[in-house]
Parts: sequence; C-alpha cells; structure tokens
Amino acid sequence: MRITTRLALLALSLFCCLPTARADEGLWLPLLLKQLNEADMRSKGLKLSAEQIYSVNQGSLKDAVVQFGGGCTGEIVSDQGLLLTNHHCGYGQIQQHSSVEKDYLTNGYWAMNRAEELPNPGLTATFIVRMEDVTSQILAGVPTNSITEADREKLVQTNIQRVAQAAVQNTHYQSFIRPFYNGNEYYMFITEVFQDIRLVGAPPSSIGKFGGDTDNWAWPRHTGDFSIFRIYAGPDNKPAPYSADNKPFKPRHHLPISLSGIKPGDFTLVFGFPGRTNEYLTSWGVDEVYSLSNPAKIKVRDAKLRILDQDMKASDKVRIQYSAKYAGIANYWKKWIGETRGLKKLDAVTRKQEQEAKFTQWAQHGTEAQQAAYAPLLPQLEKNYRAVRDYTLARDYVTEAALGIELIAYANSLLPLVDMVEKKAPAADVATAVARAKKGVAGFFRNYSAATDRKVAAALLPLYADGTPATLLPGYVQALQKQYPGKPGWASFVNALYDKSKLTTESSAQAVLDEVAKGNLRVLRDDPATQLANAIITHYRAAILPAYTTHTDNIALLQRTYVAGLRQMHTDRKFYPDANSTLRVSYGQVAAYEPADGVQYDYFTDLDGIMEKADPTNPDFEVPARLAELYQKKDYGPYALNGTVPVAFIATNHTTGGNSGSPVINGNGELIGINFDRNWEGTMSDIMFDPDRVRNITLDVRYLLFVVDKYAGAGHLVKEMTIVGASTAAAPEAGKDAKKVKLKRKEKAGAVN
Ligand code: ARG
Ligand code: GLU
Repeated sequence: MRITTRLALLALSLFCCLPTARADEGLWLPLLLKQLNEADMRSKGLKLSAEQIYSVNQGSLKDAVVQFGGGCTGEIVSDQGLLLTNHHCGYGQIQQHSSVEKDYLTNGYWAMNRAEELPNPGLTATFIVRMEDVTSQILAGVPTNSITEADREKLVQTNIQRVAQAAVQNTHYQSFIRPFYNGNEYYMFITEVFQDIRLVGAPPSSIGKFGGDTDNWAWPRHTGDFSIFRIYAGPDNKPAPYSADNKPFKPRHHLPISLSGIKPGDFTLVFGFPGRTNEYLTSWGVDEVYSLSNPAKIKVRDAKLRILDQDMKASDKVRIQYSAKYAGIANYWKKWIGETRGLKKLDAVTRKQEQEAKFTQWAQHGTEAQQAAYAPLLPQLEKNYRAVRDYTLARDYVTEAALGIELIAYANSLLPLVDMVEKKAPAADVATAVARAKKGVAGFFRNYSAATDRKVAAALLPLYADGTPATLLPGYVQALQKQYPGKPGWASFVNALYDKSKLTTESSAQAVLDEVAKGNLRVLRDDPATQLANAIITHYRAAILPAYTTHTDNIALLQRTYVAGLRQMHTDRKFYPDANSTLRVSYGQVAAYEPADGVQYDYFTDLDGIMEKADPTNPDFEVPARLAELYQKKDYGPYALNGTVPVAFIATNHTTGGNSGSPVINGNGELIGINFDRNWEGTMSDIMFDPDRVRNITLDVRYLLFVVDKYAGAGHLVKEMTIVGASTAAAPEAGKDAKKVKLKRKEKAGAVN
C-alpha cells in the first residue's frame, strides 16, 4: 500500500463512525427529508422530491409501505392491496397453515384465485397516515433536572396518553408517540391498522429459505426470501376484522415494479420500520455488549440450537413444530457473533473512548451551562455501567437460559394465575384468567416437544446456574446445586422434573387448569415446574430487576443528556435518531465490498449461483426440481439478464432488524427489490456503522417475478402489478465468466440494459 493511500484511508477512518452521520449512514425521519436530505439524495440519483416520498396531502411512497405484523415491513404493489414481504416475515403464517399432510413450508403455497387466499387471525398491516413533532406537548411541565428518570417517565407517559388519544378522537385511526434522540424529542404517528391480511403466495422453503441458516447473514446470497399477502378492507375501504365479505383494499399508492435492474453506484432507497439501533452508545455500553452480554447469550444459544437441530433432523413432526422457533433463535445467535467480530475489527470501544475524550474536552471548555451539564456526565455513566454489570449478566441468564427452557417459560406464564388465587382475586376475574389460559394450551402444545425440551433443560440449567453471578442466584437453585451436584446431578433433577410435572402434555395441563377453575390451586402451585419458575422469577423480581432498573434508568437519563451534548458539540452535522420501530428512510447506492484483505465480493448474484450451491444432501441447499428444469431450459421470460436471472444484490443502505421486507426503491420511485438481510461483516452497524463494510442484502425483484410467474405459474399476480422497464433480452452467454466480464464492460459504458 502506498503512503498516500494509507493517509487517505486514515483520513477516511477518522471520519467514519463519528457519532454523526456521513455518507450512507442514517435512518432518516420521512417528515424531515426535505430539510435534511433532499439535496443530498438528489445529488446521489434520486429523481423524486421529498414530497413524493412523504406527503400528508397527496399519495406518496409512504402510502405503499406498511409495518407487517409487529416486526417486519411490507409494500403494496397493486391497486388491489397486494403486499410483498419476506418469506421469513410470513413464516409464522405459512407454518400455521401447514401440517405434515399440507406442508406449505416445504412445498410452497399459491392461491390461484381470491377464494384461496388464507386468512391470518392476529396479523396486521399498519399504514402511517402522518407523523408530527409533539416534543413541546410531551415535555410540557416536565422538569429538566432534579427529577428521577422514573418520575420523569411517569409525567411523560401521562402526556403521551393524553396527546395520542386526543389526536385520533372520533376517527378510525390509531396513534402512538415514541421518544427520539434518547428522549430529547417526541414524535406522534397516526396509523391505520388493517386486520384482514390473507396469505396469497409463498415459495417452497427450498427457494424462500434457500441457504437456510448456513447462509443467513451472509453474502453472497441466493435466497428467494419473499411471500405475498393481500390486505382486505370493509365495504368503505377501511380496516375491518376478517369477514368473507371484505374486499381487497384500494391503496392511495402502490409501487410500480422496475425490470430495468441495477448497476454499481445506482441510487437505492429503503423505506421501512427499523427496530432498534444504539449508535450513540458510549464505550462502556459497547463494552457491555461486546464482552459481557453477547458472549453469554451466544453460549446459551449454542447449546440450545445443537439440541433442536438434532431433534428436528430426527423427526418431521419436531421439524415443523420447531422450524420457526429455531430460525428465530439461530438468527440473533449468528447476528451477535457477527456483531461481536465487527466491533472487534472496528476497535469500537477504543473509538468510542476517543470520541468521549473529545466530548470531555469540549464540555470543559464550553459555556458555564455546558460545563455544568456535560462535564460530569461521562464519569457518572461509567459508574452506572460498572454497577449494573452483574445485574445485566444475571438478567441475560434468566431470559436466555432459564426462560429459554420452554417448560419454565410456560409455567412462568401461569404464575399470575397462582398469584390471583392466592391473593383471593374476585372469582369472575379468576374464571376469565383460567379460561384465557385454557385457550392458550392447545397453541402451546401444538409446537411443543417435551422430549426435546427435556434435553434443552438438561443443557441450559447448568449454564444458568454456573453463568449467573453467585450472589444473584436464587437460594432455591443454590440448594438444588447442593442436592444434585455437577452435570449428572442436573440431569437427574431434570428427569425428575419432566417425569413429575403435569405441564408437559396438553391433556394433563388442561386437567391442571380445570382444577384451578374448581378452586383447587394445589396441583398448579405444587407442580415442580411451577416451583422452579416461581423461585427463579420471584428472585429475579426481588433481587435483580430493581437494581438493574435503577442503574439502567440512570443510564437512560445520562445518555439523553449525552446525546443532547453531542448535538450541541457538532452543530454543523446532521443527526439521525436511533431506530425505534418507526418509519424511516435510508439511502445509499449499489456497491460491492471487500470482506477481508485480498477478497473481493461482487455486487449481485444470479440463478447460475443457485445451481452452483445446489446440494441434494444438504437440506439448506436443495433446489426444487422445477427450478432446475427452468434453469436447464433457460426459460426465464422477461426476467432474464444476460442469460440468467438476477437473484440478489447489495447496497450501502443503513438497515437493521425490522427492515426485512422493506421496499428497495430506485431513483424513479420504482420497486427494484425487497430488503431481507445484512452482510455478516456489517452486523455491528446497529452500534457502529462502517461505510466500507456495511451492506444491506436485497432480493432482486426480477427473481421474485420469475418465481411467481415461471416457477409457480401464478402469472395472474404479475398481471395485477404495474411492471415498468425491461430487463435485457440478450441471448444466453457461454459460461458465467464471459457473462460477468461482458456485463462489467457494459456497466462501465453505462449501459447494462
Ligand atoms: N437474518 C435475517 C433477519 O434478521 C433473516 C432471518 C431469517 N432467516 C433464517 N435463516 N433464520 O431477519
Ligand atoms: N432480516 C432482518 C429482519 O428481519 C433484516 C436484517 C438486518 O437486521 O439488517 O428485519
């Protein structure tokens, strides 16, 4: 490396990851795009105005974006309420409709007409009608100092209730208000929540989850990660509970779909509901994640996943029961591993310390008010982080290890019942609670294997007992440790627990609840699973949570002040608020990256790559026969590019969990893909963004259309969409290299299509 490049890189790295945005970092508020981002976005290739992305008065892109369920994003692609999201976002629904006989997870599902579209009770699609800065109303009458975080929160919540309710009185809208910039600002969201969302189509897992957990969080990627739903509305086009008479929803806007594809440097906009980031965390916060929480949680999930994997491979029933659970557990397990590595590679703790040193310098030389507010801040944060460490670890072990055992989690969910009866709650209330619990039994046992859970318990209980700081272990568990020493001891305890507990089968659990209904609490209260859950949770509430909350409340207050200080320190920079499951825009460009020294990754993948990965002996890489056949015949229709079908691409957009299913939109406001993942080397971007290495992974919409049209024969769905532009009509090339070389040459000339 020449000296000049080194210097250039050094200069770059100094800019990178300051606690403010540069380049493609940022999760921007749609409301503020005009003010903060429009000029920048247009210089990078956006042809639309900010008003065309977010407008209250006219249809805009935001009217085609929904929060799908609680944790994903979806987009509307027809005037009949057709909705696209990820396969992994619709996974729970696909699973709910599946059984060993009708296995839609394995075989896929395609509604060939409206009558075949399957309802999903509980699933919602939420539109943002408008958003509004309500900071002054929420903070009215809230003292800025000499108030505890808990008291402040009470006042804030009272104001939030009042303002949010008033805003939607006499409308069918809903509303919520969230803190931004760690509670320095508050925004209100007015929403329209649809409740009749039907499953229209899903590819087989061998397409929708191709690569499985092996490829999860990884690039290069070949997953056809999409599923299709439809929003139904009442006769007035407003939200209505499921009814056979409901009609397809007519949206204010639906996204046209572009076949024209992408090339490096192309503008990309991701519009969705990112869940949670922590970009303004201090060095102590980063260290807590890096050296305390992540390693503990990874260790527990390692053990659990190994057991689930064995049992799922041994039984189809267990496979279907645990597929969604497994995917969920494996997902964050792998993310935390990548995040930990990324933080290490960026030397994140040191970088944060450097920023903090500058902050302290600034605070000490500021105005008197700045000195008073900000100079003592960081030592206090440090003190609280040190004090909370043991409690954080104890809490991680309760949530991951103890409650990671389903029997304990289930018993825990019944503890309120015990409490009600013991406290002599009114009979009617008890009856309602028992009835609710009874209703939940079937759902729980449908996806429960007691034999598997027994193995999980034998592995996780010792981890819980050994990992929890000794002073924070319940006396009950300490006594068990003495009575049943070592691993063999835990094994025999677990066997006795599962042999004796009545909460391990559907019929015996129902019988236990029937007894409670009759006023006989004893069977439930004395059940060994209830006993253990009660011991752990009661102790957690009494001995862990209060101290944990005290310190994290202090940290929240100090962190809010820190963020306010940073914004004063860097008045020239644009700050974006951390993700909080509200609607955001992130923008960037299509770009390759270098995952490691000497390694270069391309910016897109294609169907040829699927065939290269195909492996009939590995369930993650099975290719369905029909797809192989289309590949053999090169029967790609209008979705081909240079003799293959593009499958996925990467770009520099800042995204996080919750952005799954988000539309990826080109400079003309057309859909070019669906966001579904991030690269492993970039998973630390929830804490520290690195423009050189962070990439969002997008399903190319042409692969989606190819699968719907050519693979599934559901062309009626494509007809319903608004398709614009054309993919190349070039004849198949001989060999992949020729194809890519040729493609690159064309790109350089600026004409891919
Ligand atoms: N990593 C992606 C996200 O965070 C996809 C997860 C689902 N896929 C899986 N193989 N578990 O949600
Ligand atoms: N797969 C993630 C989701 O479900 C998106 C990946 C990420 O965290 O960036 O939201």
